[in-house]
Amino acid sequence: MDRAPLDWKSLPFGLTPTDFNVVYRWREGQWGPKEVRTSFDLTLPMAATALHYGQAIFEGLKAFETRDGRTVLFRPRDNAERMLRGAKKLLMEAPPAELFLEACEEVTRLNRRFVPPFESGAAFYLRPFLIGSGAVLGVKPSNEYLFGVFGTPVGPYFKGDKKTIRLRVDEEVHRAAPLGVGDVKAAGNYAAGMRAVASAQADGFDNVIYLDARETRFIDETGATNFYGVLTGDGRPRYVTPKSRTILESITNKSLLVLAPELGFEVEHRPVEVSEIRRFSEAGAVGTAAVIAPVGSISWRGETTTYGSEPGPVTLRLYDELTGIQRGLVPDRHNWLHEIR
Ligand SMILES: Cc1ncc(COP(=O)(O)O)c(C=O)c1O
Repeated sequence: MDRAPLDWKSLPFGLTPTDFNVVYRWREGQWGPKEVRTSFDLTLPMAATALHYGQAIFEGLKAFETRDGRTVLFRPRDNAERMLRGAKKLLMEAPPAELFLEACEEVTRLNRRFVPPFESGAAFYLRPFLIGSGAVLGVKPSNEYLFGVFGTPVGPYFKGDKKTIRLRVDEEVHRAAPLGVGDVKAAGNYAAGMRAVASAQADGFDNVIYLDARETRFIDETGATNFYGVLTGDGRPRYVTPKSRTILESITNKSLLVLAPELGFEVEHRPVEVSEIRRFSEAGAVGTAAVIAPVGSISWRGETTTYGSEPGPVTLRLYDELTGIQRGLVPDRHNWLHEIR
């Protein structure tokens, strides 16, 4: 296989066009055949429910090349299940898990020359999406759905030379409501939070920490990641990560909650008051795109808590273990890797 002529070591987290994508259409009660396409454009009716009533959800997962040359997806069934949960909440038809997997495998296979080499540390990002594609006027669910997957090679989500990121606690914007859809990957959640992120970035921060919508008191998550802090003191370090009904259940965080105790850390999965940022010795932002981005500082009401310009020891240990499994350097003892043949 000849690889695409890309500078693999300096890929941005952005869209690089690839050769093929796939779509499936749900009509008259069933999913149609796979359509392999070369165009990145879709044709939709103007009255598609995705455009007006927000029937749109998506996923994000990565394919990696392992040291021994395999191409693997990380926990893709978990993404399929999360899409299913989202579809149920938004009254959409979801692709069955097998179809979801087939689409992700196919897009990776067809674009193999864009899967970054092991040594680059980069990955092939897959973006499955599901939209209401039927023309409807009046708020009701669509009678047609389109499920598609495209992929693109990506580098780090938080760019720049620095090793840690700067976050700001936002008290102006609630990302999601307690009985709303913050726990699923609904497209509208991201539009709702964009102005907070844009304003923080204009002030030199990398992203924001959203607080809970009921009391504006507990940490929810950042714009595209879950959050953790580390408590040290007597005994073993504690991996502390928010439990909240308005955050997206991150597959990365779910994996770290399994790995942390195996590495000798305690785990606390509970509501986390924002004032606790002062007690943490380390913090991190975790997700498929960001992997584990070590947090260097958090600003809240004009006060800045600093964790340092280098990742802390707990963060480094978690990072090495997680990425070691993903890249075939550490045994895949939980069967998280899905090989593409
Ligand atoms: C709002 C939000 N939280 C958390 C995550 C991290 O989830 P995962 O680890 O499954 O990528 C994402 C990315 O998918 C996200 O968009």
